[in-house]
Amino acid sequence: MPHVVFIAPRFLENTNRYVRAFAALDITLSLVSEDPAEAIPAEVRGRVAGHFRVLDSLDSAQLIHAVRAISGSIGRVDRLAGVLEQLQLPMAEVRDAVGIEGLTSAIARNFRDKDRMKEVLRSRGVPVARSVLATSRDELVAFVAQVGYPVIVKPQAGLGSRATFRIESDDELAAVHSPTPGQPIQVEEFVRAREHTCETVTIRGKPVWRSGTRYFPSPLEVLETPWIQYSVLLPREADDPTWTSFHPINGDALTALFADQASTAAGTALTHMEWFLREDGSSMVNEVGARPPGVQIMPLMNITHDMDMFTGWAQLMALDTFTPRPRVCAAGSAFFRGQGGGRRIVAVDGVERAVEECGDALVEMRTPKVGQQRVDTYEGEGFAIVKDATTEGVKRALRALIQNVQVRYG
Ligand SMILES: Nc1ncnc2c1ncn2[C@@H]1O[C@H](COP(=O)(O)OP(=O)(O)OP(=O)(O)O)[C@@H](O)[C@H]1O
Ligand SMILES: [Mg+2]
Repeated sequence: MPHVVFIAPRFLENTNRYVRAFAALDITLSLVSEDPAEAIPAEVRGRVAGHFRVLDSLDSAQLIHAVRAISGSIGRVDRLAGVLEQLQLPMAEVRDAVGIEGLTSAIARNFRDKDRMKEVLRSRGVPVARSVLATSRDELVAFVAQVGYPVIVKPQAGLGSRATFRIESDDELAAVHSPTPGQPIQVEEFVRAREHTCETVTIRGKPVWRSGTRYFPSPLEVLETPWIQYSVLLPREADDPTWTSFHPINGDALTALFADQASTAAGTALTHMEWFLREDGSSMVNEVGARPPGVQIMPLMNITHDMDMFTGWAQLMALDTFTPRPRVCAAGSAFFRGQGGGRRIVAVDGVERAVEECGDALVEMRTPKVGQQRVDTYEGEGFAIVKDATTEGVKRALRALIQNVQVRYG
């Protein structure tokens, strides 16, 4: 029986879905967390062979210590898994140090470092936006002179579109803090396009299953435009060429990023690739995470394929197996985000009307609550998940949600 260590920084709702999924497998399961052992969900506690508490689950030195302690008491660790984007590099460092099969830090950096990712893809002929990691103002200005406005500036290892801006003019460029070798800035040509995702299951480098979504509108537009609420659509048609025509690029990109380790356990993954589709029909890779997707895409994949992707991912990570499922319907998620100034929600309107208009399409709804603290992300303070037999039905339901539900800060 393989021994799997899962890193669950805190035993929160989403993380616990994965904990339960691993606990249901025929494996020896150990956990590393910042929370104490008492916080492990009661129903799985009996299934947990080893537990080690760390102060900071993103600190690879602490993780190495924890995994060594667990292997000392329980036995050799065969796999190390965790969901968070920020965990991927520290976990890879642990694998390197302790000698665990899977994503090594050399490969994890291909996914985590946006500059390196683009270089690797470009060198293998995968289409990506022109970009540079600027370490001085001169480099920043020279790049803009080459590609023209607008450009996008973002952190080298970004997340949640934080500190990501569209720069339209010399004045705006002057307001960007000057990059330094210690604090470089990733700068990219601005791609005018629709944003899609491609979720791919690979086993030892071979794609065995794909799904995909479209973002309405793009995460950056959501953050730039205070009144916009964000939604994600997973269409009914698994063979829609809008998505499938990207698959060869997706395959090439993953082969490039997994590099010489594609055929090892490093190439066994669920990846979440964001990609641009331009008006002329051409596509480009934006970025790739070697981890399960966020923005409710996991539940959307479950609904549209009548499966449990949390278990599917656990099985993939622990046992190198995956059972592909066909698509049976369309689904989508809508994110409720407040408008106005202020740090707290003071009003939530239009919920009843939205629910009524959604009808049977509504699967789950977490409405933001008055008094709830403002969060400055495109995911906002609440969400709803909808499904329908048709893609059009899901679009209608998503529209009903984001047009009716209004959240105000004050
Ligand atoms: N070169 C580009 N051209 C146009 N828009 C871009 C470009 N790069 C990023 N964006 C916009 O900014 C958003 C965030 O960028 P990116 O995905 O690279 O960073 P992130 O912080 O890792 O994102 P996430 O929100 O997925 O965690 C993208 O979803 C897109 O809307
Ligand atoms: Mg992104």
